[in-house]
Amino acid sequence: MFVCLCNGITDSSIRRELQAGARSFSDVQQRLGVASQCGSCELQARAIINEHRALDAAHFYDAAPATGVVAAVA
Ligand code: FES
Repeated sequence: MFVCLCNGITDSSIRRELQAGARSFSDVQQRLGVASQCGSCELQARAIINEHRALDAAHFYDAAPATGVVAAVA
């Protein structure tokens, strides 16, 4: 699906950049040029980035070992 019509950028291309290491809207904008003209795609691009971050965080916590120890205080 096209997210940015001005630059021909799809949701897949944004996700590909996130998988390749982009961490923020600025990263994605710098790499692809999303929202660099009329700007009407910015909210949708940010939503895709936030969705990706939420999924990444969920995978991180799923993979964390369940030790029962939260923190050790000396
Ligand atoms: S639709 Fe993305 S800059 Fe215009």
